[in-house]
Amino acid sequence: MYSEKVMDHFQNPRNVGEIENASGVGTVGNAKCGDIMRMYLDIDENGVIQDCKFKTFGCGAAVATSSMATELVKGKTIQEALLVTNKAVMEALDGLPAVKVHCSLLAEEAIHAALWDYAEKHGVKIEGLEKPKNDISEGEEEEDY
Ligand code: FES
Repeated sequence: MYSEKVMDHFQNPRNVGEIENASGVGTVGNAKCGDIMRMYLDIDENGVIQDCKFKTFGCGAAVATSSMATELVKGKTIQEALLVTNKAVMEALDGLPAVKVHCSLLAEEAIHAALWDYAEKHGVKIEGLEKPKNDISEGEEEEDY
C-alpha cells in the first residue's frame, strides 16, 4: 500500500522538532481527521531557508509527507519553496494511496502558513502566496480527490 520511501520517512522522519526564534511558524489542522501540523522555518537575510523543522499530531502519511517536504524546502529560496506542492512531495515519495492524498496537503499548507508568518513579521510581501487556512478541510468537498 505504501511505497518504501513513505515507510522510510514515516519510520525515520527527518527534521522533527522545533526551531527556537524561528523566522516563521505555521500551524494548520484538518478538522475532519483531527490531525495537526506545525512547521518552523529559519530564513536568512537573503531569503534562503536555512532550516526547517516540524511537529505533528498526525497520521503516518502526514508524518512522511512533512518529513519529505522539510527536506525539499531546505536550502531553497522562498519562491522556490512555494513550488514544493503536495504533488511534488508525493512524487518525491513515489506516490501515496488515493485516500491519503489529502494528508499531504497538511505539509504544504503548514509551509505556506510559516511563510505567511515570516512575511507578516518582516513586513514583506511574498508574490504568489495566499493567506493559508487554519483548517484545510474547509471547502474540501469542492475539490476532486
Ligand atoms: Fe489526517 Fe492523514 S488522516 S492527515
